[in-house]
This record gives sequence, C-alpha cells and structure tokens, in this order.
Amino acid sequence: MINFKDKVAEKISKATEIELNEIEGYIETPPNKEMGDYAFPCFKLAKVLRKAPNMIAEELQSKIETDEYIEKVDIAGGYLNFYINKSILAKEVFDEINVKGDEYGKSNIGEGKNIVIDYSSPNIAKPFHIGHLRNTVLGHALYNIYKFMNYNVTSVNHLGDYGTQFGKMIEGYKLWGSEYNFDENPIDACMDLYVRINTLCKEDEEVLNRCRENFKKIEDGDEECLKLWNYFKDLSLKEFNKIYDTLGVSFDSLNGEAFYSDKMQEVEDILKEKGVITESEGAEIIDLEDKKLGVVMVRKSNGSTSYATRDLAAILYRARTYDFDRCLYVVAYEQNLHFKQVFEVAKSLPIPDKCKAGLEHVAYGMVRLTTGKMSTREGTVIKVEDLLNESIERVERVINEKNPDMENKHEEAKKIGIGAIVFNNLNTTNIKDSIFDWNTALNFNGETGPYIQYIYVRTKSVLEKVGYVPDYKDVDVSLLNDKESLNVISTLYNFQNVLMQVVEKNEPSLLTRYLIELAQNYSNFYNENRIVDENKALQDARAYLTYAVGLVLKTGSGLLGMEMPNKM
Ligand code: ARG
Repeated sequence: MINFKDKVAEKISKATEIELNEIEGYIETPPNKEMGDYAFPCFKLAKVLRKAPNMIAEELQSKIETDEYIEKVDIAGGYLNFYINKSILAKEVFDEINVKGDEYGKSNIGEGKNIVIDYSSPNIAKPFHIGHLRNTVLGHALYNIYKFMNYNVTSVNHLGDYGTQFGKMIEGYKLWGSEYNFDENPIDACMDLYVRINTLCKEDEEVLNRCRENFKKIEDGDEECLKLWNYFKDLSLKEFNKIYDTLGVSFDSLNGEAFYSDKMQEVEDILKEKGVITESEGAEIIDLEDKKLGVVMVRKSNGSTSYATRDLAAILYRARTYDFDRCLYVVAYEQNLHFKQVFEVAKSLPIPDKCKAGLEHVAYGMVRLTTGKMSTREGTVIKVEDLLNESIERVERVINEKNPDMENKHEEAKKIGIGAIVFNNLNTTNIKDSIFDWNTALNFNGETGPYIQYIYVRTKSVLEKVGYVPDYKDVDVSLLNDKESLNVISTLYNFQNVLMQVVEKNEPSLLTRYLIELAQNYSNFYNENRIVDENKALQDARAYLTYAVGLVLKTGSGLLGMEMPNKM
C-alpha cells in the first residue's frame, strides 16, 4: 500500500533539507479529520531554522506542491496540515483488502527476528489471581501480534515451581495431608495447607528447618520429596490449564524456575570469574550500589540460590537456545527493580550484544475490583475461574431475557463473556492500574469487547440483508465519498500502522482503542447511510465497506484473543 505519511515526510524533508527520518518522527495524526490527515508541528524546527513556527509554516506551504497523493496543504496555529487524496486512499485500502482477505494488516517486519515472551508465570500451589489473568491476556495478545508481524515467537511460561515453599508444602502434607481432599479442590487445599504450615514455621524453628531440609532434598533428587513436589505441580497445572483452555492460551515452553536448578552453577562460575560476585557474611552477592540498583543475592548464606540467579540462568539458556533479538518479560511493575538488576548483571554474561540489548520488562499495573481491594489475607481473593464463569453466566442471563431463541446460546455467551474480560484487561495502558467492574466490562454500548462484537454482528446482519458480499471488481469505491465513509476508510488504512506501534511499544491497548474507533466510525456510517438501496452500485460499494469493517474487526479482535459471536 502507498505510505501517505512517507509522501508527506518526503515533501517536508525536501523543502527543509532536513533528514527524512527526523521529519518522519515529528509527523502527527490530527485529532479530527477536519484538520487534515497528517499534521506537521513547525515548532519542532523553530530552533534549527531560527524562525517562529508561523513563519516556518508559511514558508513551507509556499514551497510544497500538491500532487495526486496530497490534495491540499494548509496552516493552522503553527501546524502544517496535509489532506490526502481520498479516492486514491480508498482504492488502495480496498485493493489490498480484496487481495489479502483475513491477512490484511499482516507485515513482514519480523522476518528473521526471534522473540521470546515470558508471560503468565504463576506460582505453583498458589492461587491464579486476577493479576495473573491480566498478565496472561497481555502476553497472549503480544504473542499473537508479533506472530502476525512474522516474528519467530516463543512463549515461555516461567512457572514459579522452586523454592522453600515446596519444602513447606511437603512438610505440611506429611503432617496433615490426610485431612484434605486434593482431588476436589486442589488449590484451596494447597492454600490452606500452606497457610497452616507457615504459621507453624513461625512458631517452631525446628519445623522451618525441616522444610528447608525438604527443599534441599528436592534439589538433591530425593525420591519421596520429588514425588510430592511433582504431585503439587501436577495439581496446580491442572487448575491453570482449565483457565488457559478457556482463554485459548497455550505455551511453547513450560520451563519454569526448577528447570534451571542444574544451570545456575555455570552462571555463578562465570560471574565469579568476571569478578562481579563478592562475598558478604557468607552470602554471594552482586553489589550494584554504584548504579543505584542495590544488591543482588546470588546465593544465600545457607547455600540456596535465588529468584534472580534463576533468571540469570534463564537468560543464558534462552540466548543459546532461541538466539533472541528481544526477550520480553510480562511481569507486574512491582518487579521493576528485580528486572533492572537482572538486566544489568546480564551485561556480564557471554551472550551476544543483541540479546543484552533485547531484554525488556513489559511492566503492567494492578487490577482492582470496584467491590474493594483483593487480598489474600482478607480472604477476598477472586478466583479467575469463578470470574470467567460468572461473566459467561451474566451474558447468558441477558440472552435468555432478550433473545431466548438464539442458537448455540451457551457457545455464544462464552465468546461474549470471555471477550468482555479479555478486552477489559487490555483496554487500559499497561502501566496504569486497571479497574474491574461488571457494569463497565459488559456494557454493550461502552468501550468494551461486547461493543466490538455487537458492531461485528451488525456487519454480518447487514450483509445478510443485502444478500451477498459484492464481487470486488463490481465495486466503485469512488462512490464512498461522504464524510462518514471516508472516516471508516482512513481508519481501515491505519490498521497495519497501529499493529506496528503495538510491537514497537508492547502496548496492546493501542489496538483496543483502534477497534473501538473503527466500530464507532462504522456505527456513524451506518446511521447516516442507507445500505440496502435501489441504486445497485451504491449498495455494492457500501456493502463492500461493511464487509471490510467486519473483516478487520474480526482480525483485530482475534489478535487480542477475543472470538466473535455469530449472533448477539
Ligand atoms: N512467578 C513470578 C510471580 O508470580 C513471575 C515470574 C516472571 N518471570 C520471570 N522470568 N521472572 O511473581
């Protein structure tokens, strides 16, 4: 497709003799189409050119000639506004959609690049809470979008399956295992056992030592302890898999922390040789005070390794195994310091520079419920499985009320209920805390998943009324020249650009917002235009636009991990 932004940049670059790349970076998309399709903020050049923005704008305007792509250039408050040729734009967009179909928006920018995405990564024997849900949904969306951009992606679930907590679980099991029914309610039973043994450990040093001993035994390969450890791991994975299945998520690798138990020594040796590790009161540490990053624990004085050491071993392993260009860690912002430390120390590992530069923490905020804070201590942890089921049930109730004869009610309710949760989790900028509220998430008219699905279903029913999807060769796109149609077309044009930004910033909320905009623009188009019309040519053009919107809504939603219902 023609890149109109490039065309604009070329013109400005020529007129100012400033490098194309720099100019590209300054070009903006105006907040509304009345202000043009692209805008150039002239104040960016005020310093270099030593002129007032207004003067620069006037000079540039007189130097820049319009052509077949750019129809008009005007000035508004120090901005230069560019209006592109809408009939060329429309033809470009629909030609491409006709050829690419559901691959419209796909790109090759990732070809030959390896990406590892570490996400979800819950802790074994602990509940999978709504923070993990946000993590999982975020990581999964990134995974899909990177794939769509043709990156070679590996998803890793870095399970928290290592550490004294397992020694504790084993001790608790030995003491009280027979009192629980692990088959029926595995996570609840584990949680209860864990809280109980923790309390005992605090009171009784002897017990705590036995727990540490148990963990040591796991590391040394003791058969009984390993058996119990695997038992707890299997129980948890079974629970987690229920959630992953519901969300349609799977992983390329389940190498969790335990996987690195025999790979930490090498890292330690390397770091010692490099002189990075120092001894402090019997512990091995890395002092990063000079970088204002505190101290990293490599091996505690009792000989046990740490979370950070396992992450360092994982970096070495991933660099060797996947030769990654980027390795993303989707982890809550509480671990900011941890990742800064680990990435700093990784500079001393024998891995390629591109790997060192490619380490990236994709931090995200907390999830709050409007009904109050969730906390383990207060016993108000919302189980993700319950949340997903409740969402489906709520949607099913609405369907039973409004459309009781709908086919495949449960299946459709599932797509809508899950879609609502997925979209709600992604619709907030990563770093902001996200708020979960049923009325917002399930509102069919708000900025929600169900709204997108509703507009999608409308495109389907419009095409049903028309009776056919027009053959593209019969479509005269120049008939789509009203304001609402043109808004839809330029939004369709932006799809790939938005996906590029998502991978540049690791920010799927750009795609959720894009889909809302597309749905809203279509809704305006629908309100202003008769689609079923005696004028066959007009009907075909509008029906084709409708088809295109449905296609992009579906592709975009699929990338987010949200399925489309057939009816609503
Ligand atoms: N299991 C950790 C937690 O729940 C997250 C692990 C993230 N991944 C990593 N490579 N450190 O806090």
